[in-house]
This record gives sequence, C-alpha cells and structure tokens, in this order.
Amino acid sequence: MELLDIMASRRSIRKYTDEEIPEEKLNKILQAALLAPTSRGKQPWEFYVIKDRVLLQKLSEAKHHGAALLADCNTAIAVFADSDLSDAWIEDCSAVLGYMYLMATEQGVGSCWVQMRMRKDADGNDAEQNVRDILGVELPWRMVGIMALGMPAEEKKAYSLEELKWAKVHR
Ligand SMILES: Cc1cc2nc3c(=O)[nH]c(=O)nc-3n(C[C@H](O)[C@H](O)[C@H](O)COP(=O)(O)O)c2cc1C
Repeated sequence: MELLDIMASRRSIRKYTDEEIPEEKLNKILQAALLAPTSRGKQPWEFYVIKDRVLLQKLSEAKHHGAALLADCNTAIAVFADSDLSDAWIEDCSAVLGYMYLMATEQGVGSCWVQMRMRKDADGNDAEQNVRDILGVELPWRMVGIMALGMPAEEKKAYSLEELKWAKVHR
C-alpha cells in the first residue's frame, strides 16, 4: 500500500481479539519507533513493551477516561523520554507515537494512542506519575503516552482523500 493510503486508513482501534501479535509485526512497530526523528538527533526516549495482564490492568486504571482499552489490548508500548536530555521530549515522543500508528496500520495491527501526560485518574492523581509508579520508572523520565496494540476486532472506515479539510491549508 502507498504511504498516503496507509495514512488514510489509519484509525484508532480500541477492540482487539485474543490473538497474539506476531513477533515480526511487533518488531516492525518497534523499528518504526526507533526510526522516528528527534530534535538534534538526541533520541531521548526508551520504550517499555508490556504484555503482562496484571500490569495492563493497572495501566488501564492509571487515567480516569480513555485508558480502559489498555486492559484488553495484547501489548502496550509506553513511551518515556529523559526530559533532562532534551527539551523537545514531548515532540520527540509524539513523533514516535505517530510512526507506530502508521506501522501498526501497515502491519494490520490495531492501535490506539493513550495520553497520560496532563491527565488524572478517578481520584484526581496524576496519570503520568501513576504510570511511572506501575512500571517503576523515576523522574526525570517523562511520558506523553502509551500505544495500545492488538489484532483488530473492529473495522473503521478509512478517511477519504476527497474530503480533506483543505481550508486549513494557507498558501
Ligand atoms: C495526542 C493524542 C491523544 C490521544 N489520547 C487518547 C486516549 O487517551 N484514549 C483514546 O481512546 N484515544 C486517544 N487518542 C485517539 C483519538 O481519540 C483519535 O485519534 C481521534 O478520535 C481520531 O480518530 P482516529 O485516530 O480513528 O482518526 C489520542 C490521540 C492523540 C493524537
């Protein structure tokens, strides 16, 4: 598939089958993450691959809304960055999540970005800190989000190239 077609068919998939993600597909998604551009080429990030069901359940409760899917996904990739190493860690992590979204789509793996930074859990505690506590990661490691992955159990319509919002483009 051409890159533009992959971009148009990329959708956030939140329902997954029980099937294991084939190792070669997961590796391609991680390769994409490691190929993402970073400010000044500093590569301040590290990735935690989580398959443990107890940890996935805990991560799904780290944030009040929009994280429940983590309990049902097959694998989560938590994207952390050393915020002392780069002041562009948010942008660097965001690029990684975008790259993983696209490679997951190309590989037929369902994916959804779960934001943790600036979010709270049901008791008002900081979601990002909850994730650090669950995974045993300490500051200055910060995170933007977690990529939930699994073989898709829902289908979503691709975006249409004919319906793009060209009014947002000024030239
Ligand atoms: C920065 C960012 C944060 C997001 N956070 C969440 C989230 O916490 N939970 C969730 O279910 N989806 C999350 N999403 C997915 C968006 O809801 C989704 O991209 C949007 O609704 C458009 O749908 P699409 O991805 O199918 O095009 C996030 C996406 C982005 C880019």
